[in-house]
Amino acid sequence: MKYIWLTFISFLVWCGCASILDIKDKSLNLGLIPLPKKVEVLDGYYQFSDETTYSINSSAPEIDYVVAYFSNHFNQRYGINVRKTENNGAVRLIISDEFENPEGYHLETSPSGVSIAASDPSGLFYGVITLIQLLDEGEKKGLSSSISSVNIVDSPRYSWRGMHLDVGRHFFPVQFVKRYIDLIAMHKMNKFHWHLTEDQGWRIEIKKYPKLTEVGAWRPETLVGHYTDEPRKFDGVRYGGFYTQDEIREVVQYAESRFVTVVPEIEMPGHSVAALAAYPELSCTGGPFTVEKMWGVHEDVYCAGKEETFEFLIDVLAEVVELFPSTYVHIGGDECPKVRWEEHDLDQKRIAEEGLKDEHELQSYFIKRIERFLLSKNKRLIGWDEILEGGLAPEATVMSWRGVKGGIEAANSGHDVVMTPTSHCYFDYYQSENKEAEPIAIGGFLSLEKVYEFEPMPPDLDPEKAHHILGGQGNVWTEYISSEEYAEYMIYPRMCAMAEVLWTPEKRRSFEKFVHRLKTVHFKRLDRLGVNYRIPKENI
Ligand code: ACM
Repeated sequence: MKYIWLTFISFLVWCGCASILDIKDKSLNLGLIPLPKKVEVLDGYYQFSDETTYSINSSAPEIDYVVAYFSNHFNQRYGINVRKTENNGAVRLIISDEFENPEGYHLETSPSGVSIAASDPSGLFYGVITLIQLLDEGEKKGLSSSISSVNIVDSPRYSWRGMHLDVGRHFFPVQFVKRYIDLIAMHKMNKFHWHLTEDQGWRIEIKKYPKLTEVGAWRPETLVGHYTDEPRKFDGVRYGGFYTQDEIREVVQYAESRFVTVVPEIEMPGHSVAALAAYPELSCTGGPFTVEKMWGVHEDVYCAGKEETFEFLIDVLAEVVELFPSTYVHIGGDECPKVRWEEHDLDQKRIAEEGLKDEHELQSYFIKRIERFLLSKNKRLIGWDEILEGGLAPEATVMSWRGVKGGIEAANSGHDVVMTPTSHCYFDYYQSENKEAEPIAIGGFLSLEKVYEFEPMPPDLDPEKAHHILGGQGNVWTEYISSEEYAEYMIYPRMCAMAEVLWTPEKRRSFEKFVHRLKTVHFKRLDRLGVNYRIPKENI
């Protein structure tokens, strides 16, 4: 009971603080998240109706995605059918070379209509997302299907605005993944990093190796409670699932129509017990193995001494690159214990024959071989920052998670980097210091405010290397996230903060104003979609 009162009182304090915020900036009321670069609020409204027409000056095929998104929104939300006209429509979608950044746009609205200009359909899409967000201010004022007159010039700060989802520890069905992509797009994010293989489950159908999903997608049972609880308890229920290749194609197509690139992750050489349970001959010891039911880091990994390992992984990746149009393929590379390689004659033979110094260089040899294959398919390799150890593959991009040090090292040596340090980007961490009041999580503490403070550009990085920082990403590891509701609770609103960090110019960011926009408008947007976001109980 005490907690209920405490929660209630902190909620009242939280609401009260917002009302004392000095709201001179008219654009604050528009509730735009992420905040655009430049917003000017003018007088008057434009009212959408069945009379509203639209026109387009380009026949680029991706424009169809923009139009479909825009017209479906009006249809589903208001029952309004906007019609295309060959003349100038009330809504003009204009491709023009005025913008350097393909994702940038210029949105102008007045009582007589709307124009969105961009150099690429992706820019038009983000203009439409802003337009749709503007409808919420109209709603708030009782002006249904109306938008304020504005002049917005906008473009993102970073090109990699990512969200990750681990479907290995817990499996999430296609319908949830599509909803996740919808929310990514709605926040103007553009990368969905799909973590498809883990010790506890292999989740992607590979035609040449059916046992990956017949065996590797199913674990005997799942841990109940926390990893550190003693004694450990398991639920005794077989658990699993996987995506067929048709389902993967469906998700990729869905994401493409929202300008989201799906980056698949196939983990190697570590976090591979589920694959080894299916094909134990790819390990150093020969197994047998069962798909893991324990979280953590496991010592059995792909054998780097056997040629069969590389043949297998290249076969797997050959199917993966056909399914995903993404330039990047994530190969994991993190948390690979070296103990089996130290003990195994074939791995030691490989070290001797290749003139490698140690097992770290053996991991580097492993990743470089995989990179050669990906490059031969016009793909680029991305991996967690452990791929720096023993020497980085020549064209590799680094995802820096153990802080930003690895990212800085990679950028300084001319490699591209995505920043995802645990300190600001791990959405599996607790959202409150009062852990007892929260559902069980892996540990840590990452508040909404801390996410908002994330600065992907290291201050001491040589400005000449700044272009190597492609952006950042929120990561959602799911050891303890076993349901869709709980996943949403952990993701939102932290993802809203991440979206703004990666889109909005640093000097425009203000946590206080972000929270105001969140509470007055954006939460209602999430409510309309039924998103189970966490209402911050802290005094913010
Ligand atoms: C990671 O969190 N192991 C990349």
